[in-house]
Amino acid sequence: MSRSFELNGAIAVVTGASSGLGRRFAGDLARAGAVVVGVARRRELLEELEEQLRKASSPSATRVCDVSHTEAFTTLLGEIEREHGRVDLLVNDAGVGEPRDEEGLSKYRSVMDTNYFGAVAGTLAVLPGMLERRRGAVVNVSSDSGRAPSPGEPAYSASKAALSAFTEALAMGIEGSGVHLHVLYPGWVPTAMGSGAVEGGMRMPPKAVRRTEEQVSRLLLERVGGRRLDIDATVVARLAPVARALVPGLYRRGVRAASS
Ligand SMILES: NC(=O)c1ccc[n+]([C@@H]2O[C@H](COP(=O)([O-])OP(=O)(O)OC[C@H]3O[C@@H](n4cnc5c(N)ncnc54)[C@H](OP(=O)(O)O)[C@@H]3O)[C@@H](O)[C@H]2O)c1
Repeated sequence: MSRSFELNGAIAVVTGASSGLGRRFAGDLARAGAVVVGVARRRELLEELEEQLRKASSPSATRVCDVSHTEAFTTLLGEIEREHGRVDLLVNDAGVGEPRDEEGLSKYRSVMDTNYFGAVAGTLAVLPGMLERRRGAVVNVSSDSGRAPSPGEPAYSASKAALSAFTEALAMGIEGSGVHLHVLYPGWVPTAMGSGAVEGGMRMPPKAVRRTEEQVSRLLLERVGGRRLDIDATVVARLAPVARALVPGLYRRGVRAASS
């Protein structure tokens, strides 16, 4: 059970629930007693997940939705609110990595549509109800690439930097409202996305920033609804922006060396 947020009986929506971190979050939240609605595009994977979720929390369900279609996503969130009376927790986990087969502006737009605008649309859709009830939490899953951009990932890094900035600015405006906005930084996790980046040529990240799905999920369940905006899976990555500000030349040489 969460130390700071009652998960038992909470209505939780998790995007990106068909695989990796999102799938783990959805399962762990259901085991903690939340009613979970898992959202993603791949129907077969969601059907398997739904079976698993219902064993732990019988009203849980899954819904097929592409979060980059923001109208469809916000309509879905409205339906969930009407069906369950509220949404207590939204985890905007759905995300895509740097496209390897796309170039030009369209690549940047498509990454922003999922990683940034999907999460922004979700946050803005559930926030009014949460503020009215003076209770709720939104977790936007960012990346260390957002605060310490990685070479070879300009679209991904920019989308996550935008998501972090959006969440932090919004959080400052609602402090004391009873609603908690968080940015989750998972470190590097060997999911389809994490392992795919390494297979695609990214150097294996150092041990200090490697985490498992289980570790990141445990941290999320412990910290959600707490006072801290950032939920950090690794300390090292938290220090990267400090080095970047204090010794930018040295920092960039270090990042280039670590990635080549
Ligand atoms: N793994 C890491 O090292 C790492 C590090 C930092 C941050 N992150 C972040 O963690 C989050 C989860 O990634 P992961 O590592 O667990 O990778 P993953 O296994 O590839 O999961 C990505 C999830 O996002 C869903 N998704 C992608 N585009 C979507 C869309 N348009 N609409 C709805 N769902 C969509 C995918 O489901 P469908 O394909 O079925 O839609 C999948 O469930 C991402 O936001 C990622 O940027 C990961």
